[in-house]
This record gives sequence, structure tokens and C-alpha cells, in this order.
Amino acid sequence: MKDLFEKLNERMGPLGMHADEAHGYFTFPKLEGPIAARMKFRGVEKLTWSLNNYLGLASHPEVMKADAEAAAEFGMAYPMGARMMSGNTNYHEQLEAELAAFIQKPKVILLNYGYQGVLSAIDALVDRHDVIVYDAESHACIIDGLRLHIGKRYVYTHNNMESLEKQLVRATKLAETTGGGVLVITEGVFGMSGSQGKLKEIVDLKTKYNFRLLVDDAHGFGTMGTTGAGTGEAQNCMEGIDIYFSTFAKSMAGIGAFIGSEPQVIKFLNYNMRSQIYAKSLPMPMVIGALKRLELIRTQPQLKDQLWKVVHALQNGLREAGFDIGITTTPVTPVLLNGSIPEATHLTHDLRENHHIFCSIVVYPVVPKGVIMLRLIPTAMHTLEDVKYTINAFKAVKNKLDSGDYRQEKIAAFA
Ligand SMILES: Cc1ncc(COP(=O)(O)O)c(C=O)c1O
Repeated sequence: MKDLFEKLNERMGPLGMHADEAHGYFTFPKLEGPIAARMKFRGVEKLTWSLNNYLGLASHPEVMKADAEAAAEFGMAYPMGARMMSGNTNYHEQLEAELAAFIQKPKVILLNYGYQGVLSAIDALVDRHDVIVYDAESHACIIDGLRLHIGKRYVYTHNNMESLEKQLVRATKLAETTGGGVLVITEGVFGMSGSQGKLKEIVDLKTKYNFRLLVDDAHGFGTMGTTGAGTGEAQNCMEGIDIYFSTFAKSMAGIGAFIGSEPQVIKFLNYNMRSQIYAKSLPMPMVIGALKRLELIRTQPQLKDQLWKVVHALQNGLREAGFDIGITTTPVTPVLLNGSIPEATHLTHDLRENHHIFCSIVVYPVVPKGVIMLRLIPTAMHTLEDVKYTINAFKAVKNKLDSGDYRQEKIAAFA
């Protein structure tokens, strides 16, 4: 027998194994000052490309004012209890109604967090007779939702419609024997590659197969579509998305999430989602603040226009400079380089300390061995000058990477 705590040291995991060298620098860094394109890291201003504050709402003066006034009036506690028991308010219901109108779904349910919300929605929607078919590159919240599912699940190759059809045939066969239904799950925008889920093609498969579609559009809400109503709007297939999910953690620059669907589905979720029934309601400043954010998304399309101006300049500029940015068709901008993990570490350090650019770095096992992915999130707060400066800095570090400079360099410690 072993002591449980001792065992933890032996299985720190792919991220935890680097904790000692990385903590405070690559992991758990502290960005300080108002949320903006430039923030302080260790006391020095950095051009920051790693916040999902797509529309710049986090520090928009009207948002800050609405948040502060709601906190002053209601405090952070109100309302107490779960919505079902004692935590419901007119504001919660108003936000649900306004979100529903915006995404053009009959009804919406508010969720406390996106991650928990997706997990709990999957848990509630399917029973052991039902079959789930899901995209292989689904976000952790979907994967963890699947872990709660005691029925069968089939994975299809990322965005591969042939593979999806194959799994739909299997799922249909099985559901016919169990008397269950089929739930297909994918994302609107895949947050690592920036590719869009093939929502339209999936919806079209409904003419051949009987299934319901759940879409996690965390990165698409506010950024995609003519009005910002998301990837379903962008692909003109919102009607075929049976269960539309998004979080407030990205474009909405807040906390919370929501699901839009048909009235009977929302009624069912209201009475069966364990993450909502057994957890405290969203605090009032989050709800009133979300109403303000939604109003700005609706009434200030120039924020989305500015975001896309920066996105196009950044992505075109990187491509013209010879960078591989994969197959993104959304604001998420991966820059793919070749190198080892130590090289990735040195390159990021160089970018951060000498070029004063702060961006996320993704290495194996999230991307294949030998690939370094720098992930840039453009926002409406960035300027075309920021883009130009960044592309030049990226050219400089890529030259060093290609000539092997980061292989020799030694950096004692980042802490
Ligand atoms: C695709 C996707 N789904 C769900 C979530 C979780 O949302 P939240 O931060 O509100 O828990 C995220 C990340 O925030 C995400 O990227």
C-alpha cells in the first residue's frame, strides 16, 4: 500500500512535471494593470496576445461602470441559493430573454460556469440508452461530460465528415436496439487551431440520420456571424443547432455561460442540470454586467469590425512573412514552428524579455512532438502598429530558431 500524497508526486502529469521550472513564468504568470493590449509582467509592460477579451469589453468604460454600480447596489452575494430554491431574480430572467432573442433561440438557461455547464448539460441530456458521437478535438469540458455518460460514445476524426457518418451509422444501429437517441457534439470554433466546426455539413446530415446537435461556441459567440451571434450564424445553420452553448469567459469578458434551445429542453435542463440545481446562482454584478456587455455587442458592431481588422492584418501579415498559421478561419491565430521543448522555452523567453511580447506557448502533448505552437489572440484593443511590431519580432525569433541559436542558449531559471 502507498500513501496517497506520495503517489501524487509520481503522477504530476504532462503540465505538472514542469511545475518547478515553469511556475510563475510560463505557468501561473501574473499580468497586472488594467486589462488591455499592454499589461505589466514582472513590472515591465508587455504587448499581450493571450487574453480572450476579443471585443475589448473587459475594461470598456460602460462595462466597468455597470459592474461597479451593480456591485455597489447588490454586493457580490445577492441572490443567495440556487435559482430553483431562492436565487432567481428578474435580472437573471431578463438576461436569458435577451440572450435568446440575440441568438434566435426560443429559450435560454443561464449557467454559472462554462466548463461545469457543458459537463452537466451532457450529464442531464443523455441516459444509458443514448449514444454520443463527438469530435476528437473537443474541449476538456466535453470530454469530461462524456466521462459521466454511462452509455456508449463514438469519437469521429476531427472535422472529418466521412468519419462522422461512419460513427452515425454505428450509433444509429445501437440506438435502435437500446431505444435511445443520438447526440452529436462539436465546437463552433476550435480554440487551439482556430478552425470552425463543420456545423452546416453536420446539420445537413440530419436529412439522413436522426440525431440532435450540441455546439460549444465559446470562441464563436461575439466574434463570428454578421451580428456576432456565433458560428451558427456565420454558417447560416443556427436553426439546425439543437443545443447552442457559449460561455461569458471570452467575448463577454465575464463569468457565466448559457445554453439556448427549444422551450421543453430548457425546462428540462432547469429541473435536471445538477450544476445549476445544487449550486449558487450567478451573483447580480455578473448578471447585470452581462446585460451591459450584450447590449454593447448588439449596438456597437464597430468592436467586432475592429477585431476583424486586426485579425486580417495579423493573419495576412504572418502568412506573407512565411509563417505557418494552419487552417484558421477565426480570430484564433496559431503560429506553428519546429523545435524541441527547450527551444520553445528559450524562444518564448526571448520574445517576452527582449521583444516584450507576451503570448501563450503550446507544446507536446497538446501538439505533436517537435512542434512549437505560439497562440495569438487578437482583440479589438490591438492596433495595426501592434501587429506590425509583432510580426517583425516573430521574424527575428524564427531566424534564431532556424539557425539553432536557442539550442545553445542556457537560461538558468525563470523564477
Ligand atoms: C470551448 C470551450 N468550452 C468551454 C469553456 C469553459 O468555459 P468557462 O471558462 O466559462 O468555464 C472554454 C474555456 O473557457 C472553452 O474554450
